[in-house]
Amino acid sequence: MADRLSFTLNDQPVEITGISPMTTLLDWLRDRRGLRGTKEGCAEGDCGACTVVLEREDGRREAVNSCIALLGQVDGLSVRTVEGLCGVDGGAHPVQVAMAEADATQCGFCTPGFVMSAYAFAAGGEKAEADTVHEALAGNLCRCTGYRPIVEAMGRVVGLAIDPPPAPAVRPASAAIDGVFFAPRSLDELLTLRSMYPGARLLAGGTDLGLDASRARKPPSTIIHLAHVAELKGIAADDEKITIGAAVTYTEAAPTLIEAFPALRPYLSRLGSRQIRNLGTLGGNVGNASPIGDMPPVLIALEASVRLVSGRGARDLPLEEFFVGYRKTALAPDEVIQSLSMPRLWPGEVFFCDKVSKRRDQDISTVAAAYRLRIKDGRIEDARVGFGGMAATPKRATHVEAALKAEGFAAAIAAVANDFQPLSDWRGTASYRLQVAANLLRRLELRIAEPARVLELEAL
Ligand SMILES: Cc1cc2nc3c(=O)[nH]c(=O)nc-3n(C[C@H](O)[C@H](O)[C@H](O)COP(=O)(O)OP(=O)(O)OC[C@H]3O[C@@H](n4cnc5c(N)ncnc54)[C@H](O)[C@@H]3O)c2cc1C
Ligand code: FES
Ligand code: FES
Repeated sequence: MADRLSFTLNDQPVEITGISPMTTLLDWLRDRRGLRGTKEGCAEGDCGACTVVLEREDGRREAVNSCIALLGQVDGLSVRTVEGLCGVDGGAHPVQVAMAEADATQCGFCTPGFVMSAYAFAAGGEKAEADTVHEALAGNLCRCTGYRPIVEAMGRVVGLAIDPPPAPAVRPASAAIDGVFFAPRSLDELLTLRSMYPGARLLAGGTDLGLDASRARKPPSTIIHLAHVAELKGIAADDEKITIGAAVTYTEAAPTLIEAFPALRPYLSRLGSRQIRNLGTLGGNVGNASPIGDMPPVLIALEASVRLVSGRGARDLPLEEFFVGYRKTALAPDEVIQSLSMPRLWPGEVFFCDKVSKRRDQDISTVAAAYRLRIKDGRIEDARVGFGGMAATPKRATHVEAALKAEGFAAAIAAVANDFQPLSDWRGTASYRLQVAANLLRRLELRIAEPARVLELEAL
């Protein structure tokens, strides 16, 4: 096992000893490496000032928030910061030129973050369509320039020829850095570590757990990192079901999920930002067990099951049985979530989902709802409905389901209060949440009866 951190930074190999792997990448870049182009704004993944690019083995370049990424997470990877961008003859990189020429910067504090997001966008070869640009920038905030010139700069970087990334210093060996940060490569190894270190925290993408290190400055004392465990990284899809490994990121899972359940396209584009989706995982969303996580209601409506593994064997649970109380799950201390499986839609079935949050982008939901329906001759024959933000756990709405099948939407709306007695918090009062849930059911009714009208309303 390797006992030191090594990765590639701006094309140069780096070896680190004597620094905690729980240090955030941002702190290390700025305080230890002197690379202060990468800024700290919010320290919680919201503003994008700290954006750097991970250059993956398969050539992907992905923007991530260095403020919530731990140093241990980049072991064996390749990282590029704004200092690592270079144009012809050592001048400004074309992305930087585009930002300057579009007058897309004033005080400049946010600019390195925008530059790195634009660099990842350009390297991805996407088209500069309004939706795509908006989505690519949703994780970066600017408080002085205004977004029009920044969007214009994004238009200028489209089609830019960017060399393929250098091969990262891939580490085939498992890492055990300082005896506190373990990065197993196989499920066997992971389960052995899980039983040896029952108090260790499991870290997938770190977009929840990383906040302990950045915002709270209290990182876990021992971590088992899941991102390199091959058995947690697979995606399997056949005619009947889809299985997503718990350590697969949203970015990796999205094409398969959207192909099977097209309503997830707009929904996933509002789950965090690209920076968050490039590291965050479904397993982490479920493992975190937040009542307002976006994926649990979707997965509950889709009749997903969760596979839990330990040295004692594997067991599958319907996802709704996994959540047993406020942020409490059925996961035993020696278990790990291996994967999530969901059946495909059968002919005659449709799937819809909705999220209501205080801000459109980069905001976790106040209320989320998802529906898997079988409709025949305009009548709902079968329904599975999942809600988030309405109870202490993500939860199935069984009274709503029964009413949808037996009586229709008016009865289903009246049944919301039988399923849920939501809490009030700063995101919304209990009565607001009940009203939102009722309104989402009204929207669902319109969607089924008048799909064109809903599209028209949503475009406003
Ligand atoms: C700025 C920002 C915006 C966000 N926006 C959203 C949003 O819109 N919607 C939303 O739902 N969430 C949002 N989140 C929360 C977070 O991104 C998601 O919950 C994400 O899915 C967490 O995945 P992760 O891999 O990063 O989890 P991690 O942080 O690595 O882990 C989260 C928890 O799950 C546990 N865990 C992880 N993997 C496993 C496993 N395989 N087995 C058992 N336990 C495991 C960990 O121990 C930890 O307790 C946001 C976070 C930030 C910082
Ligand atoms: S400092 Fe704001 S996202 Fe990292
Ligand atoms: S240019 Fe000042 S915050 Fe964006």
